[in-house]
Amino acid sequence: MRKPVIAGNWKMNTSIEEGKALIEGLTTGTASNTCDLIICPPYTHIALSQSLLQNSSIQLGAQNMHESNSGAYTGEIAAEMLKNLDCTYVILGHSERRSIYKETHDLINAKIKQALAHNINPIFCVGEHLSDRESNQTLNVITTQLKEGLKGISESDLTNTELIVAYEPVWAIGTGKVATPEQAQEVHAHIRKVLAEIFSTELADKTRIQYGGSVKPDNAKTLLSQADIDGALVGGACLKADSFLEIASAAA
Ligand code: PGA
Repeated sequence: MRKPVIAGNWKMNTSIEEGKALIEGLTTGTASNTCDLIICPPYTHIALSQSLLQNSSIQLGAQNMHESNSGAYTGEIAAEMLKNLDCTYVILGHSERRSIYKETHDLINAKIKQALAHNINPIFCVGEHLSDRESNQTLNVITTQLKEGLKGISESDLTNTELIVAYEPVWAIGTGKVATPEQAQEVHAHIRKVLAEIFSTELADKTRIQYGGSVKPDNAKTLLSQADIDGALVGGACLKADSFLEIASAAA
């Protein structure tokens, strides 16, 4: 019922040449239409990606975005600039933005609202630290992140846009330590329950929830076979066309 969605977060990786080769590998290798594929390259690669993806079903996303329309914000990128380049998704609330750049719930909330106002689909990341998990606080942390991040947003704000939620346990990102399918499923089911409380059961049922954190071709299938896991947000393993496409085929 929910079409799987696999997104690649390139982070701060690849030269232009490497990025071009990666996209060419993806476009020549993409065969099936049974899942949605999104790539989120660095800003500097977005215009090139737009032209390389012109005849492809692969969609384009950004890794971050500013919460204002325009102005004196040195180094920042606005929603309209992304829209101009057919960049229709944006990753917001990633744990690296939260921890390294100190993005708060309020800032993430403002960015999500800005994305929705410009018909850009947010990929809203939530996830607990290892200390939260060890002190049995995982579900509370996730509830807070969801409620704060989505504060003031109503179901009608999601009429023309899709909210994707990505569950990414911080301890699993870039570490090779993947959550077990059971651990991930428990949190995904919880996320769906909280979304039903915030919006409605109907919206919660159709919201796609990705798992992220050390997703690789060899663990993708068991994760994606869980009832509430509707896709993956992939970091390291998206930098090689073969492994990203293998993960996509595990979703099919
Ligand atoms: P990873 O990163 O797949 O390298 O763990 C995932 C992410 O940060 O989105």
